[in-house]
Amino acid sequence: MNSIPDHAQLLTHCITETMPQGRSADYRGKVRDIYYLDEDRMAIIATDRISAFDRIFNEPIPFKGQLLNQLAWYGFRNVEDLCTHHVIDIPHPNITVARKCRPLPVEVVVRGYLTGHAWRIYKQGGRELCGQQMPDGLRQHEAFPEPILTPTTKAKEGHDQDISETAILSNGLVSEDLWTEIRQTALKLYQRGWKVAQKKGLILVDTKYEFGLFRDKLLLIDEVHTADSSRYFYADGYEERLERGEPQRQLSKEFLREWLIENGHHATIDQKLPVLPDQVRISIYKRYRELYETLTGEKFRPTPTANFNDDLAILLDKLAK
Ligand SMILES: Nc1ncnc2c1ncn2[C@@H]1O[C@H](COP(=O)(O)OP(=O)(O)OP(=O)(O)O)[C@@H](O)[C@H]1O
Ligand SMILES: [Mg+2]
Repeated sequence: MNSIPDHAQLLTHCITETMPQGRSADYRGKVRDIYYLDEDRMAIIATDRISAFDRIFNEPIPFKGQLLNQLAWYGFRNVEDLCTHHVIDIPHPNITVARKCRPLPVEVVVRGYLTGHAWRIYKQGGRELCGQQMPDGLRQHEAFPEPILTPTTKAKEGHDQDISETAILSNGLVSEDLWTEIRQTALKLYQRGWKVAQKKGLILVDTKYEFGLFRDKLLLIDEVHTADSSRYFYADGYEERLERGEPQRQLSKEFLREWLIENGHHATIDQKLPVLPDQVRISIYKRYRELYETLTGEKFRPTPTANFNDDLAILLDKLAK
């Protein structure tokens, strides 16, 4: 496929669930399907599923998996001097062969700006988030004096919960030495991600990191600085919009969250899952593509996925040897 297919065609190009030669994934996350290869390696398939507020929609987003997986690879390459990452190989645009780690039971969120969840707490008068103080007098989307670390627990089901660093240590979720390493690494990663984005005219607003242990060593796992794990604003006009109290121009999954809230779906969608209209799916695809192209500076060239399960079966067979 040399060019991007037209819109009607696009929606038929989706990987919702993988099933190579009738085999189901060993683990199915909200977005990724995982196949264990051996003790130390696994194949992670980025599908086209999309989730928001911890619910998976029935309508996938064309080529989201490829965009996400390749953006994560770009992100990992940009930080590899700061932290070892899990990637061994990217044998296909949807697939990462990774070191199989023991995931740590916390997600490490770094926030540079008062947006989203932090803003929802702040505007109701809250000045503390995960044990971190937020100073008075900030406007929505304004930068914090320093980026703050606001971890969450990694819930097996349902919503991840905010947790303070003190509680992480007192509950023994992570040892003190390891937490010190994670804290320092996460802040450095955010600083790097922010700089990379700045060079491309974007602001890395906030982002989530996951870490795992591989033979007792700390590794950055899952994904990094992608549209699913991060919020990005356009830098151009940011100050003016902040001054005027206008919404920021976003390039991330925030678009979907905003669409849901605007259409009357409560922020946690505990009620019936809405159907994503075709034009919303196309808009989301375009945002993911735009973020990919803006950050990497490369044009997105989609790889056909009509025979994905066959390709995956062959690949898994090869990797198992
Ligand atoms: N290198 C790795 N080693 C072990 N686990 C990993 C590694 N990289 C990612 N994971 C885990 O694989 C899963 C990836 O799936 P996905 O991103 O779809 O999940 P999620 O929706 O973020 O979370 P959940 O698994 O809770 O649904 C996550 O649970 C993540 O923690
Ligand atoms: Mg994930």
